[in-house]
Amino acid sequence: MYDYMLGGKDNFAVDRQAIDQLAELIPEAVPLARANRAFLQRAVRYVARAGVDQFLDLGSGLPTQGSAHEVAPEARVVYVDHDPVVAAHAAGLLRHAPSRARVVQADLLQPEDVLARAGEFLDLDRPIAVLLVSILHFLPDSADPERAVAVLRERLAPGGFLVVSHVTTMARLEDDERDGRPRRGRSSGGGTDRTPARIRAFFGGWPLEPPGLVQATDWRPDRPKLVGDWSLPASLMAGVAKKVH
Ligand SMILES: C[S@@+](CC[C@H](N)C(=O)[O-])C[C@H]1O[C@@H](n2cnc3c(N)ncnc32)[C@H](O)[C@@H]1O
Repeated sequence: MYDYMLGGKDNFAVDRQAIDQLAELIPEAVPLARANRAFLQRAVRYVARAGVDQFLDLGSGLPTQGSAHEVAPEARVVYVDHDPVVAAHAAGLLRHAPSRARVVQADLLQPEDVLARAGEFLDLDRPIAVLLVSILHFLPDSADPERAVAVLRERLAPGGFLVVSHVTTMARLEDDERDGRPRRGRSSGGGTDRTPARIRAFFGGWPLEPPGLVQATDWRPDRPKLVGDWSLPASLMAGVAKKVH
């Protein structure tokens, strides 16, 4: 479904039907998915320019449409997805395109397992950029994603990066601005909205690279905003932080 939203060809009729229905109900779903992918690409380029040549992409979906290994072809990339169909299809896609990328089927909520398996292909003692792009809002609080991300932060070598995008809502932004109290809710996508403060907490106090935690379209944009960009609701926040020591 996500591949179809991004304009790819690796999808089935049932995916296309579901997204066409979703787009009628939530017109911003497809523009948001594309804004998210554009953020992922800018963040990967930024981190690669900072000298990182290893990426761990958690909840990656299919490695197409400008995924990390396409944006940073010199880097080693491990894609992790828990969906067996996605993982099998992803492995097939990579077999046909020689690259330094691998796919691991694993649950990011079991970070010890993810790290052990990623460690067969990546050097965990050197800097790695962990991508948690448009995935954490699919994980409910009851699954304790904070714990999983804390384990990853702890294990990363200094010089590593955490790249996060996460759905929030305008209403919630306004709530936050009003009295600063955290609120929780369900997003229209069936996931978990979190306030900007809770999204920031995933970085565990690591310093955020400029411009900080902002709307995904405002994170180091590489082109002027187009007319359509202005109509995007302010509902996807994005940031990149570095492990200093
Ligand atoms: C929105 S899609 C892909 C987003 C992709 N990171 C991007 O930004 O373009 C989310 C993917 O996360 C996967 N996923 C959901 N929960 C997961 C989990 N607990 N562990 C690993 N993958 C998960 C889904 O199977 C799906 O392919």
